[in-house]
Amino acid sequence: MKHLRDKRATQKIRDKYAETRILAADFVYPYFVTPGKKIKEAIKGFEGINRFSPDMLVKDIPGILKYGVDKVLLFGTPDESEKDETGSGAYSGTGIVPAAVREIKKYFPKITVITDVCMCAYTKSGHCGIVRGGTVLNDETLPYLAKTALAHAAAGADIVAPSAMMDGQVDAIRKILDKNGFDNVKILAYSAKYASCLYGPFREAEKSTPSFGDRKSYQMDYRNSKEAMLEVKEDIKEGADMVMVKPAHAYLDIIRAVRAAYPKIPLAAYHVSGEYAMLKAAARAGVFDEKAAMMEVLTAIKRAGADTIITYFAVEAARLIGGKK
Ligand code: PBG
Ligand code: ZN
Repeated sequence: MKHLRDKRATQKIRDKYAETRILAADFVYPYFVTPGKKIKEAIKGFEGINRFSPDMLVKDIPGILKYGVDKVLLFGTPDESEKDETGSGAYSGTGIVPAAVREIKKYFPKITVITDVCMCAYTKSGHCGIVRGGTVLNDETLPYLAKTALAHAAAGADIVAPSAMMDGQVDAIRKILDKNGFDNVKILAYSAKYASCLYGPFREAEKSTPSFGDRKSYQMDYRNSKEAMLEVKEDIKEGADMVMVKPAHAYLDIIRAVRAAYPKIPLAAYHVSGEYAMLKAAARAGVFDEKAAMMEVLTAIKRAGADTIITYFAVEAARLIGGKK
């Protein structure tokens, strides 16, 4: 029996019978990886989050494993000088993400390594695809995303996560992986990814703010929810193993709707950089206690129907759940 609603119940009983419980195993912790050595640099406006070179990244990992966080999502932040028209740094086998994957797998083979597959950190335009004449081209971008996913898989990634919001990206990636013997590599599709103002600290971390225009031609309009269902449906059809709703806190209704329509699909929700920064800033301003707000919001995301929560709070929340201050 769950959810013993008795006003006389003790806190202990309420804790025991709560319907929703967040666990360290639910979390994915994002990391920003950058070329070089001995680099661990803070990111402006992104409290507690750093850019790591691969050698420093593997030094950080014991600190997350200690609290039971064993899934990471890698974002490459290449040097400015490496950016070009086709985002060649993204699909290079010797690029920053493959290098980081190999380093992690060398020391921590059991960690689940998820890699973000996109072009925005690698293109001069800062857009998630190939640009011609001021337009982001969907179909021309697909082979580049496929090659990027293949480079990550070849380096040892367990799951690739296409985030470019190009139609057909899951299909293109599934095909190239299978053709090259990586049929065991899974795909986490950023299916319902909205054009949101809540990605600010992330774009600072990635230096991936578009040089012109915005991402509204390929990311979703926040006024639409039925469209999210179509995106999810299409990605599942194309072979996604897990789908995602992003952002999370402001999109609990979308999480709920996807869960209701697909009771069995593994569902991830991305509590994004701006949502994280908002809680940090409000807590600092004395609006609420940070830990209480963090737990309430992350629990709400799971209660809405997410199985997996990608969050910059992963380590802090896991530490708290484990009983450490
Ligand atoms: C880019 C990408 C973004 C995020 C994840 N992948 C930013 C964007 O679409 O502009 C945002 C994550 C966050 O804010 O934490 N493909
Ligand atoms: Zn992108």
